[in-house]
Amino acid sequence: MTNAKPAVIVHGGAGPIRDDSLRERLEGCKAAALAAWDILAQNGSALDAAEAAVMVLEDNPLFNAGTGSTLNQIGNVEMDAAIMDGDLLRVGAVAALQRIKNPIKLARRVMEDGRHVILGSEGALMFAREIGFPECSPESLIVEHERKRWAEKHGTVGCVVLDANGKIAVATSTGGIFNKLPGRIGDSPLPGCGTYADDRGGVSCTGLGEAIIRVVLGKTAIDFLAEGIDPNAAARKSLELLEAKTGAQAGLIMIDCHGRIGYARNTTHMPVCFIKDNQSIALDS
Ligand code: GLY
Repeated sequence: MTNAKPAVIVHGGAGPIRDDSLRERLEGCKAAALAAWDILAQNGSALDAAEAAVMVLEDNPLFNAGTGSTLNQIGNVEMDAAIMDGDLLRVGAVAALQRIKNPIKLARRVMEDGRHVILGSEGALMFAREIGFPECSPESLIVEHERKRWAEKHGTVGCVVLDANGKIAVATSTGGIFNKLPGRIGDSPLPGCGTYADDRGGVSCTGLGEAIIRVVLGKTAIDFLAEGIDPNAAARKSLELLEAKTGAQAGLIMIDCHGRIGYARNTTHMPVCFIKDNQSIALDS
């Protein structure tokens, strides 16, 4: 058991944000980061903390995850989520999921179950029923502003945590991209793409999934850490690669095994909140 200094970082999605909603989004990120920090303060695990933070964001209709998820081409919500344990490389994910209020919680159950890594669509629902996981109505996930296609609806939510035992965990959840084809799966549930953790660090990405998948953005960012650069530089370098290869927009948050925090975006905004060992809370957008 190591004696690490815990750290938490949360993002609320990369993309343009109107000034009048930025404060609310930052407050949402702060509430999520504090939920994770409370768990760490009681010597809880990085996995529990990351899951708790993402649940707070899924329940906040401002964000494109869980309740408030964006709509696909036929007006349905289909969500993706993943959680990864950097210590043992355990990972669980759900994709194109309907009828579940907190996809990250079901992703955790997929991970704990251990038979599979990713369950999609009807299969994920069958698994939920098999384990007695509660379902919700599809309508309850749709909020009025999303019906009207609120112009700011974008992004993904995510959290990276280092706990006092030196374990790293990452959780990411999203409604995906507006007007996507039914069945489309983005980067968030794919290990190494939108969600990745190992013993060097953890990363959660946001932005256009089709581009993030092509450059395996999460694993690429962690591999840059191995070159000895700090997480901010690793985040920037991986984003430069994404931009050079695909021209796409994205953002990512990281924590390395030393508790150093990094993040980068090539969008106008990406609300983030991070908390470090001295309990200092920082917000940025
Ligand atoms: N990054 C979220 C998505 O493209 O689904």
